[in-house]
Amino acid sequence: MKFFLKLFGIFLLAIIFNFCQNKPQSEKPDFVKENIDFAVEQYSFQTAAIEDSGKVLNPRNFIDGKIKYIKPQDWTSGFFPGSMWYMYELTGDEKWRNFSEKYTEALQEIQFLTWHHDVGFMVGCSYGNGFRITGKKDYENVMIQTAKSLSTRFKPVAGITQSWNVDRGWQSERGWECPVIIDNMMNLELLFKATELSGDSTFYNIAVTHANNTIKNHFRADYSTWHVIDYSLEDGSVRHKHTAQGFAHESTWARGQSWAIYGFTVAYRATGNIKYLEQAQKAFEFVATHPNLPKDGIPYWDYNAPNIPNGLRDVSSAAIMASALYEMSTFSENNDYKNWADKIINSLASDKYRAKVGENGFFLLMHSVGSIPHKAEIDVPINYADYYFLEALKRKSELEDRRLY
Ligand code: GLY
Repeated sequence: MKFFLKLFGIFLLAIIFNFCQNKPQSEKPDFVKENIDFAVEQYSFQTAAIEDSGKVLNPRNFIDGKIKYIKPQDWTSGFFPGSMWYMYELTGDEKWRNFSEKYTEALQEIQFLTWHHDVGFMVGCSYGNGFRITGKKDYENVMIQTAKSLSTRFKPVAGITQSWNVDRGWQSERGWECPVIIDNMMNLELLFKATELSGDSTFYNIAVTHANNTIKNHFRADYSTWHVIDYSLEDGSVRHKHTAQGFAHESTWARGQSWAIYGFTVAYRATGNIKYLEQAQKAFEFVATHPNLPKDGIPYWDYNAPNIPNGLRDVSSAAIMASALYEMSTFSENNDYKNWADKIINSLASDKYRAKVGENGFFLLMHSVGSIPHKAEIDVPINYADYYFLEALKRKSELEDRRLY
């Protein structure tokens, strides 16, 4: 009996220790509000610079003292308009709604884009949030048309939507036939939504088939992910398990793992199928128990980066994961996922990762990594890190039932 009591005591201590480790020790009561106030100041500079230009510009990153503005076809074009929608929701200030509408509607043409898979990000973050907030019929139509365009990339033989074309650019030099990246899980939300809006189950069926094959082929036994799975278009078999943005084929690229956690959480929300939630939870468990995850919860750019502990962190992967964990926490009885999310977002909001007002090209967060193998966007601010940071703040405030304004 004594032995069992002792064992129970150790077990309890372990739980408390784990809890204390993940809970931010010193979160200020006005944490969310202070971060929103900061975002208002920073994005007021950003939007003033855009409006002064007389054009509808879309900022992607800030490198060597220069803000890079992008065309609607760029895979990141939905994030800045999406951030504007979150600013509107977080502040209630009509000024942000006006910017949201203007920058979103500049992406009209994306609904017909069929040459890559990222339209889920591009239209989901912009029109998707816009529709959720305003209910505008025009926005609904754009979402459904985009889902139709994305569905043209579905390859029944392999049961997936193809991520990248292989007839041009660096993708044509890798020997791939039909590459699918783990990031593609993020496009499914738009497909699920399109079925809900149109009543056409085609989109839902494509999304579920894609998710099932992603479980089958993209995960290792420890629930880490391969970045790129290349399928045969002849018989649907797997030709390669590769990386594109990670350190090595057998390493785990941090942002890819975050996309998996986020994407399967959404798949559970949309379908109610518990296997998707379990997949998301196990993918997160890989991160939470990884010896290379730094104490502050901000991952290195790859869990197997060669120069840990001196490797670069990827703030974007942390922001995506924090937002996903807030949602995951709503499907769980214990506080662990929320504690983890709180810990990560508190780190992101610290001086180490959050910019000072007026600096950082008027982006909110510093230190994201686009792609080290491509020598692109290394240790810089990037629009999607800001988008998921704001989304995480919004989810946190909703979970804590805070009045924002
Ligand atoms: N889908 C591209 C990225 O996460 O970098």
